[in-house]
Amino acid sequence: MAIPSSFIDDLVARSDIVDVVSDYVKLTPKGGSYWGLCPFHGEKTPSFHVRADQQNYHCFGCGKGGGVISFVMEVENLPYLDALRLLAKRAGVEFPEQNMDQRSRRKRARLLELNKEAARFFHSQLHGPAGRQGLEYLQRRGLSRGIMTRFGLGFAPDNWDSLIRAMAQKGYEKGDLLEAGLAVSSQKGRIYDRFRGRVMFPIIDLRGDVIGFGGRVMGDGAPKYLNSPDSPVFNKSRNLFALNLAKNTKLGRIVLTEGYMDTISLYQAGFDCAVASLGTSLTAYHAKLLSRFTKEVVICYDADSAGIQAANRAIPLLEKTGLKVRVVRVHGAKDPDEFLKKFGPDAFAKLLDQSENYVNYNLRQLQEKYDLTDPIQRAEFARAGAEVISQLESPVEREVHAGQLAQTTGVGKDALLQEIQRFRKQRFYQAKRKQERRDLTPVNQIQPKSRQMRYDNPRSARAEEGILRLLMLDSSLAQQISDLTPADFTAPVLGKIYGVLRDRMDQGRSLQLGALEGELSGEEISLLTEIMGRPASLENGAAAMADYRSVMETERMKQQTTTDEAVLLAARDNYRKKKGI
Ligand code: CTP
Ligand code: MN
Repeated sequence: MAIPSSFIDDLVARSDIVDVVSDYVKLTPKGGSYWGLCPFHGEKTPSFHVRADQQNYHCFGCGKGGGVISFVMEVENLPYLDALRLLAKRAGVEFPEQNMDQRSRRKRARLLELNKEAARFFHSQLHGPAGRQGLEYLQRRGLSRGIMTRFGLGFAPDNWDSLIRAMAQKGYEKGDLLEAGLAVSSQKGRIYDRFRGRVMFPIIDLRGDVIGFGGRVMGDGAPKYLNSPDSPVFNKSRNLFALNLAKNTKLGRIVLTEGYMDTISLYQAGFDCAVASLGTSLTAYHAKLLSRFTKEVVICYDADSAGIQAANRAIPLLEKTGLKVRVVRVHGAKDPDEFLKKFGPDAFAKLLDQSENYVNYNLRQLQEKYDLTDPIQRAEFARAGAEVISQLESPVEREVHAGQLAQTTGVGKDALLQEIQRFRKQRFYQAKRKQERRDLTPVNQIQPKSRQMRYDNPRSARAEEGILRLLMLDSSLAQQISDLTPADFTAPVLGKIYGVLRDRMDQGRSLQLGALEGELSGEEISLLTEIMGRPASLENGAAAMADYRSVMETERMKQQTTTDEAVLLAARDNYRKKKGI
């Protein structure tokens, strides 16, 4: 649940760190700040330091530090939101969660109710005088009345405000319709129906709620399909058309199509297992969702090259969730809908049974690129095919496919298996190296005790730290470095902190340490606190900023030269070797 950042900023402003810490630690003022015994590790002499001017704490003994929120999290052992709750209670302000939750729940319910009413309206229009065209259109496309009702198909009359008026009678205002994406407003502020003169396909989620619509023009107008925009209740990347029906199929697999009409035609033909993505490519979330309801997905996209490309993108996403993936390519028709009309359900059933696993499918696609009568191209195909087969995890399957590939190419099966093994090794080492790089990164990026921080370029990093310190002390200095981006930082962790500060400044929000604690990790907060704790004078803030900036620049140039030099040296060595010098 998102807490408004304004609330957090305000809460931090009301929670003085000296006050809050004093609830737990006896603090003694000394030289403008406060010292006490650290509550996080046992000690006899105070090394726990609290600064009122910076609203932070830092322990020189154990290295812990941060603002008021992280202090409460640490000392009470609470997660972030609970720490906020505690501070809110302490400051006597009402925590926004209850209200927000209730408000957004109520809004959701209202939008869903509105969508349902709209679907009812469209459906009734389809069977009324205004919808004659729409009904005829759907009939022309071969849909029975029964299937139209099952999918709740409807018709949006060709007027500016049919829906708005019908919904007004039910007590809905224009604002509601705008929010649900059922109405749009013109630049002049006039509000009118989004869907006009279109056949309507309601999109229904797993709970049976109408979350959005697709609307098709009946002629050649554009866009062919108009969809609801994402709204508080509708997200294209997380929903699939007809999954509410397909999830109950007894057919043991789900057929993934590109279009509303493909899916509906499949149902009418008896395949109650079809779904469609909603005018977007398949997402990892879709794949995960499908894997909750089936073990096998059959991709049945359009026969054109866009459909093939989309299938190639979808395969790995589906595979990753552990789904068994097969691919059907319709022949003699542009998509499953047309195929069913031309060849009938039995032909499609046959197609499904023959559907290939993705390796077969990839191999066949690959094969089309080579001229197998030419021995050189045959060998090339064998190599490329071996790479495809090498992706199979099962040795038995690899063996079977290698045998087939041997037959098609005339290359010996053993040679193919060796080649396959080579590709597998290659991929294994690539993955290993990548993992090693990943394992190394965090160590470089951050060490628990920030004083032991190891930077790749310590000189530049010192300057980068200086810039962060100055910004925290006086954010008006940011103007001077308005062109500096997080990517300019050589230390990733410092770049990240800078990015967070930059975003907040751009939004005119507080840079108080306490307010940053939702956006930075505990370690990053500790590091920032420590950086802020170093002596700094603001008297010459602008000059210091310019100095830091120029150090960064110099270091960058040096780095550049080192790389250039390395390239030159390598070239020279090469040359010498060749010439035998
Ligand atoms: N689509 C879309 N916006 C468009 C075109 C298409 O959102 N302007 C989405 C729709 O979900 C559509 C799918 O992409 O169902 C597939 O598009 P296409 O193949 O062009 O449509 P068909 O499903 O074949 O529709 P029809 O048979 O009605 O022409
Ligand atoms: Mn299509």
